[in-house]
Amino acid sequence: MRIAFGSDHAGYELKRTLMDYLAASGHECFDLGADTAETASSYVPYSLKVAEGVAGGLYDRGVLICGTGLGISMTANKVRGIRAAVCTNEFMARMARQHNDANILALGARVIGRGLALGIADTFFCTEFETGGRHQDRVDEILAAEARHMK
Ligand code: RB5
Repeated sequence: MRIAFGSDHAGYELKRTLMDYLAASGHECFDLGADTAETASSYVPYSLKVAEGVAGGLYDRGVLICGTGLGISMTANKVRGIRAAVCTNEFMARMARQHNDANILALGARVIGRGLALGIADTFFCTEFETGGRHQDRVDEILAAEARHMK
């Protein structure tokens, strides 16, 4: 899978760890910034780069990491076609894929540890969406809401 990664300074170290980990499992990983943990940066431009790349089909999925996962996912969810899910455990990661067809995984580097983050990423990237059932109807409802509210 082609996976785009973005973070601010707070998410930088975990982003690099996850990129190495997922690359070792055969994924193609692309770092769209930030480039350092040393200087404080806004998560907004990096979130938009990843979200626009995923929405435009340049990447299959995205991973976004800031301190909490909140600001960076809120930003990504302003982009049409993006369903970014903040996950703090593996159950949420499984449901985000199975029920919500999330296309971006958001994590909080100040919320979860490295081991849990790797487990969440494994689950997120190994779980398929349950197509054709009630969850498809609900994702279609999200898309209809998006069409109504995001002009
Ligand atoms: C940065 O200090 C922090 O506010 C940011 O990483 C994120 O947690 C915001 O949602």
